[in-house]
Amino acid sequence: MEQADLIWLNGEFVAWEDAKIHVLTHGLHYGTGVFEGVRCYDTESHGPAVFRHQDHIDRLFKSASLYYMDIPYPAHELRQATLELIAANGFRDCYIRPLVYRGYGTMGLFPLDAPVDVTLACWKWGAYLGDAGKRDGIRAKVSSWRRISSESLIPQAKASGQYLNSILAKIETHKAGYEEAILLDDHGHVCEGSGENIFVVIDGVIHTPPPAASILDGINRKSVIQIARDLGFTVAERDIARAELYLAQEIYVTGTAAELVPVREVDDHTIGTGRPGEITLAVQSAFDDALHGRTERYAHWLDPVPAHLYRSQAGAAPPSTVA
Ligand SMILES: Cc1ncc(COP(=O)(O)O)c(C=O)c1O
Repeated sequence: MEQADLIWLNGEFVAWEDAKIHVLTHGLHYGTGVFEGVRCYDTESHGPAVFRHQDHIDRLFKSASLYYMDIPYPAHELRQATLELIAANGFRDCYIRPLVYRGYGTMGLFPLDAPVDVTLACWKWGAYLGDAGKRDGIRAKVSSWRRISSESLIPQAKASGQYLNSILAKIETHKAGYEEAILLDDHGHVCEGSGENIFVVIDGVIHTPPPAASILDGINRKSVIQIARDLGFTVAERDIARAELYLAQEIYVTGTAAELVPVREVDDHTIGTGRPGEITLAVQSAFDDALHGRTERYAHWLDPVPAHLYRSQAGAAPPSTVA
């Protein structure tokens, strides 16, 4: 990970190396935290801009409330602090990690007396599943671990402790020589990747599991569904059987870290021709245009970092395009 200069910690900008917490931080022991993964792109139309920023902040607040955490800053303050942080670090594009967690003060499983701390960090982060994966597709394996269900946790929340589930699946498939895990839900239906939503093209129709199917309701999932429909494709939200993966003509996954990545193999079955398919490429290209501000239709998804925030940072380059 490439280090940045500053991190925002409980209302203050602090140097990267000073962003430290106590070892008895509640969230460190019990996973009592919620977070977001967000990206800022150096867009052609609006300069550096955060993609669907408000949607990520809204989901952060929803995740926090599901775990009875009151975020001690209003949403508009976190948004502003994020824009300032990106500019203060001199980034034109970066990955952004807001984290809300139970801090230092009490131990034990009753968390409501522990403080709620908030940090915002950003750093340069390239293609999560690799540039080759984005271009040529990845090899995936169905994990033996099932995705968490509503019977024991809250799949709709992006909560730190819940990610142990994704991590087990990721380790298992990595050790087996694959690039990503696909998790089934507790009914045995296809659910999602370890950090991405999944789309399966069968006979020209794009299928994806519905929001009630224990998925994280991905912000890129929503964007890519809209883009695919705007392109004239049919998107059906329905349960998907494991074998439908093997029989599909195309598969792709979406997420903030990964963006849109084709899947070329699942469990050693070649998907379609083994190359990214036509529908995948069409949606991927339109999505890439949306992320990089090349499509006016989706410009409302961009939250530009105001140029004056860069100018106020000595030595930082101002954005070339001012919104
Ligand atoms: C488990 C899981 N599912 C799906 C996603 C995709 O969500 P989004 O598109 O909002 O990044 C992510 C990434 O945040 C994830 O961690």
